[in-house]
Amino acid sequence: MILVTGATGLVGRHLVDLLLADGVPIRAVTRNPDATLPEGVERAVGDPSRPDTLADAMKGVHAVFVHPRAMGQGHDPDVVRASTGELLRLAQHSGVTKAVAMSALNVDYPLDQQPSRLRGEYNKEVEAATEESGLQWTAIRPGYFATNTVSSWAAQIRHGDVVRGAYGDAAWAPLHERDIAAVAAHALLHDDLAGQKPVLTGPEIMTQGDMVRAIGRAIGRPLRFEEVPHEVAREAMARGGLPEPLLDGYLKLQADSYLQAGLVSKATENILGRPALTFSQWAAEQVSAFSAGHATAPDLKPGHRSRPDSPRRAATSHQKS
Ligand SMILES: NC(=O)c1ccc[n+]([C@@H]2O[C@H](COP(=O)([O-])OP(=O)(O)OC[C@H]3O[C@@H](n4cnc5c(N)ncnc54)[C@H](OP(=O)(O)O)[C@@H]3O)[C@@H](O)[C@H]2O)c1
Repeated sequence: MILVTGATGLVGRHLVDLLLADGVPIRAVTRNPDATLPEGVERAVGDPSRPDTLADAMKGVHAVFVHPRAMGQGHDPDVVRASTGELLRLAQHSGVTKAVAMSALNVDYPLDQQPSRLRGEYNKEVEAATEESGLQWTAIRPGYFATNTVSSWAAQIRHGDVVRGAYGDAAWAPLHERDIAAVAAHALLHDDLAGQKPVLTGPEIMTQGDMVRAIGRAIGRPLRFEEVPHEVAREAMARGGLPEPLLDGYLKLQADSYLQAGLVSKATENILGRPALTFSQWAAEQVSAFSAGHATAPDLKPGHRSRPDSPRRAATSHQKS
């Protein structure tokens, strides 16, 4: 039996589906007693950031997937590290022998290049507690999720063919979330990744403009990215409700993406024994996310480039994590 925390979320849902397809018994953790789960999955109602709520759920489990967001948002980083440690101690006492944690590619970057921490997510602490747990462990370190483009651009795309934002040539290797789950499933089911921290990326570096055009091809519209000045983008993000300093963190990530040499990890392909899924494959599965709904587009007016004389930043890797 494998216990999956974060099971109702983006990566967790894929992980549950993949393990289920392999015939593995799964206990899915959710705080929501009414959460919809696939048939055949056992539900464990509890909150991983309060480990005592999962004491019973550990019975008969041999491996645990530790989802960093499910370990609690907005707590003190030391509290998250301690509660992750406590959860895994509880697991070990119940007979669990293996833990696989999700972390992030940028966990060792300077703090101002980790906007997730400003959102109160502590990937580093969750990873460290897993490493210290005494269990057989693996920590997967994904980069920029392809799905970031939904939260960044879907509202604008529903309203027109132009996506406006800062730093059009900021670039990453967007990663299909199913590949993150596939690597997590591999680590849970096999022992070859024990003690490792594989960095996962998508198969190719793409600028924001490249990604917008790929979404356009998927939905059959001639989308293009139009760069606006930093301050224009900042104001629109603030109007959209993104708190400071989070919006500054995201903009800094974009502005500095050229500082990270183009990192395309082969780990996904090597571990899975097949090429990593492409952004175009991801976009083809997301047509409804960019076509439906009634969200209001951020009010970004056309303007000057955010950095008029900046060189085109080639081959970079950065992510909203
Ligand atoms: N976006 C990126 O580019 C990127 C890159 C690398 C790493 N990451 C990291 O990936 C994680 C996000 O993964 P995801 O998209 O799979 O997460 P998600 O879908 O937003 O959340 C996963 C599950 O966690 C539970 N949860 C959410 N907030 C919680 C809270 N405050 N307390 C307790 N449980 C909570 C929810 O389950 P229930 O409601 O059912 O309990 C949710 O379904 C973050 O830690 C982020 O830093 C992101």
